[in-house]
Amino acid sequence: MSLFQKKSIDILLKEAGESGDNTLKRTLGGWGLIALGIGAIIGAGLFVRTAAAIAQNAGPSVTIGFLVAALGCTFAGLCYAELSSSIPISGSAYTYTYATMGELLAWIIGWDLVLEYAVGAATVGIAWSEYLNNLLVEVFHLSPIPYQWCHSPFQTSVDGVNGIINLPALGIVVLLSLLLIKGIKESATVNNFIVILKVAIVILIIALGWNFINPANHTPYIPEATKYTDHHGTTYNFGGIMGILGAAGTVFFAFIGFDAVSTAAQETKNPKKNMPFGILGSLIICTLLYVLFSHVLSGLAPVEFFRDPSKGGEASVVAAIKEAMPGYGWLSKSITVAILAGFSSVILVMLLGQSRVFYSMSKDGLLPKSFSEVHPKYKTPYKGNLVILVLVALFAAFVPGDVVGHMTSIGTLFAFMLVCAAVIILRKKEPNMQRQFKTPFVPLIPILGIISCGAMIFGLGWENWARLIGWLALGFIIYFGYSRKHSKLNKKSQ
Ligand code: ALA
Repeated sequence: MSLFQKKSIDILLKEAGESGDNTLKRTLGGWGLIALGIGAIIGAGLFVRTAAAIAQNAGPSVTIGFLVAALGCTFAGLCYAELSSSIPISGSAYTYTYATMGELLAWIIGWDLVLEYAVGAATVGIAWSEYLNNLLVEVFHLSPIPYQWCHSPFQTSVDGVNGIINLPALGIVVLLSLLLIKGIKESATVNNFIVILKVAIVILIIALGWNFINPANHTPYIPEATKYTDHHGTTYNFGGIMGILGAAGTVFFAFIGFDAVSTAAQETKNPKKNMPFGILGSLIICTLLYVLFSHVLSGLAPVEFFRDPSKGGEASVVAAIKEAMPGYGWLSKSITVAILAGFSSVILVMLLGQSRVFYSMSKDGLLPKSFSEVHPKYKTPYKGNLVILVLVALFAAFVPGDVVGHMTSIGTLFAFMLVCAAVIILRKKEPNMQRQFKTPFVPLIPILGIISCGAMIFGLGWENWARLIGWLALGFIIYFGYSRKHSKLNKKSQ
């Protein structure tokens, strides 16, 4: 039996069509998918990373950085749309790879997606915990949670307090996992409400902030290329083309999540039509909001403001509004609330994506059967959710946010590259397969996707490449120790 045996498209489609007690319910429509996408997309990337990219990389030209990152995501998004409309099955990139590049690569991508979804959920959980303190202090005028109870043991405060455990991050992950177990319909209702809230806040900031843009802060729009060293001693290429590319890498995190839409294919009505609509629709809406938002934010205060750690740090969006928009105190307070809710929906969709990938891997025998056991009443893969809960909670409670953040980005970029490659391979191998949505200009678009995601991986630096390789090595041990022996496809071919 070969490591590269593939699951045939026929088998995949037949499995998706099966009905019975152990299958998922189809409840999502096109707009539901867009809401799911926006729910996963707008979060820490916009509200935290934009200010960082202005300070460290590009000043006002962060807007161009957003466009560059969006371009890379659009190439990948077009490929996701083709695959999810032709193989509309839970599991996203994992499932597509199984059909095109064989079991070993499918395992690698499934394992890699843990970085995007599980580690991504933990990253946003940690950012959530920081904004919770902002809420307690700024909105409720209470004292913040003591440092040691909201930081990992690997972090120390400026006055020497050691972190013990990040309890708020742990709490939000537990709460949302329980909500997911209750069902995708219920979770989708909560998600829709949050999406409306956070889109409304972003639009309000754009509309009200527009009048407060100081043209001096936008001049020159693309700062001259120089070096910038922050207070930790890290040096960045600031300004010029390199600054824009650096900004693209920094804000890439803000786009992660549009692909999570494709993990819910088996819960979507008419997925062949609705999947491309959901994936590309959420990507377009978010890109538009991001460019306008970052244009306003960089116009509210000079670059030096965003470089000053005393000006809000992670919450510098709130600080900039407070400083530049007198009389709009209510806006900065509502932003804190919307951000907390917004981060929750990101975590929710990430957890959903993770459980659906594990569901598919378990159906194929690559993970234990319990990951695909569906709850008799709620119809959700509850046992898988509980295992993921423990995994994500451990990351959220004990690992610092910056370590997990870059791991999320590199894992996602790697998945995007394989999805682009899968489109080219599948066009060759299955030329006659029915494709509701076709990626235009194949192989040009997938190749551009591979190049642009590869360039962003390159920009993340060797430490992150080493982490990715280490993570994949662990995956190999599990594959050869367990999954290969239990693979259903292997058993059939023996
Ligand atoms: N795109 C998501 C965020 O920005 C991961 O939080």
